[in-house]
Amino acid sequence: MTIDTTTWIEKDYKQLHPTYHPKSHVNPLVIERGEGVWLYTTDGQKILDGMAGLWNVNVGYGREELAKAAYDQMKELAFTSGFSGMTNLPSIELADKLAGFAYEGLNTTMFTSGGSESNDSAFKTARYYWKRKRKPGKYKVIARKGSYHGVTLAATFATGLEKYHTMFGPAVEGFIHIPAPHPYRFDGQLRTGETVGQAAARALEEAIIREGTDTVAAFIAEPVMGVGGVIVPPDDYFPLVRAICDKYEVLFIADEVITGFGRTGEWFALKHWNVKPDILSFAKAITSGYAQLGGIQISDEIRETMESADDTEAYMHGFTYSGHAMACAVGLKNIEIMEHEDYPNRARELGNRLFEGLKSLREFPFVGDVRGLGLIYGVEIVSNKETKAADPAMASRIFKAAQDRGLRSRPLGNVLAFSPPLSINEEEVDEIVKRLGAAMDGVM
Ligand SMILES: Cc1ncc(COP(=O)(O)O)c(C=O)c1O
Repeated sequence: MTIDTTTWIEKDYKQLHPTYHPKSHVNPLVIERGEGVWLYTTDGQKILDGMAGLWNVNVGYGREELAKAAYDQMKELAFTSGFSGMTNLPSIELADKLAGFAYEGLNTTMFTSGGSESNDSAFKTARYYWKRKRKPGKYKVIARKGSYHGVTLAATFATGLEKYHTMFGPAVEGFIHIPAPHPYRFDGQLRTGETVGQAAARALEEAIIREGTDTVAAFIAEPVMGVGGVIVPPDDYFPLVRAICDKYEVLFIADEVITGFGRTGEWFALKHWNVKPDILSFAKAITSGYAQLGGIQISDEIRETMESADDTEAYMHGFTYSGHAMACAVGLKNIEIMEHEDYPNRARELGNRLFEGLKSLREFPFVGDVRGLGLIYGVEIVSNKETKAADPAMASRIFKAAQDRGLRSRPLGNVLAFSPPLSINEEEVDEIVKRLGAAMDGVM
């Protein structure tokens, strides 16, 4: 029996979708199948997925190698507890593969099932570390305005987008937000002669001093901000941030849930600025979305503080699915594919092509800014290029017009995001630009 799309949509009402509002999920695309960068709906549409799902399907859809890795591992052992003296082979192998893979000196991994859990784990680990260092008053986390760190209670209030807070207060205490280094619209205070990177880093130093050095546990940042509008920081920002964190004994948490595993043209994005975090959060592309897996990596220094803990100071943290055998087997195979297909380089090369194409759309009167790194881009829509007045209504119209032309992007306020699978080819990159250009022509 075949079921028509309308019936699927009626049945879909039984689930509550992420960021739900009755107006937001009216006519969802019912996706049946994917292959490469293409999605196929139940009503016969073929859509170029310019977002790689949710910034995560790096190797593209329909990869038999990953299906086989999952199948083989499930047959052997899908799951076993990682608690109280048990472990499994794929999690051992993946943790071993990841030791030092992202950054030198980050050799220990704790697995989660996704990005929000990873960030919650990072916050708890920072608190744990300072308690072990006999500085229990250090618990606050400084984050940036516009940042997105997920939806668990702590990650919600680490997130610097107020709409995620509105219906879920009171706020979790101890999360402080400072301006992000946004080259196009910096909302901090810029002193004469100061760069945006310097001013945004100074905001961090001032916040640490204002809150009290002995109260701040960590600073968290996405190397390239995603949901906040694809914001690439100026080159001087992260080296300054690293120096400030060191000066005031503040742990630096890199939220690389989007930027990890090749997206920006490096395996991990802080490499662009030669900077290392103390804690790394990852998820998404570790499995290219083929299984639910995330994790944190901690520095050797943090790991060492755990080794001498006495019995009352155990790290009482971890999830049922930490180190899930099938998910780790898929992660291992996925990394093998990404290495074999040379993804950071592909992201750089094809990213340049996409960037050039998107920049050509600046001739439209409403394209205020085009920015990105590797294969993650934001096209900012404004009603006036001089005043830079944001135009989310126009962005939404362009998003819909593009979707009508078989191109999926993601509207983030007045910014349209693009983050296609890293397996994309030249022709498909050009197709993104062509379809977006046609959509822009259509709304003119
Ligand atoms: C930078 C960043 N951190 C954390 C998360 C949360 O990840 P998850 O949705 O897997 O919990 C996301 C999700 O988009 C993200 O973009």
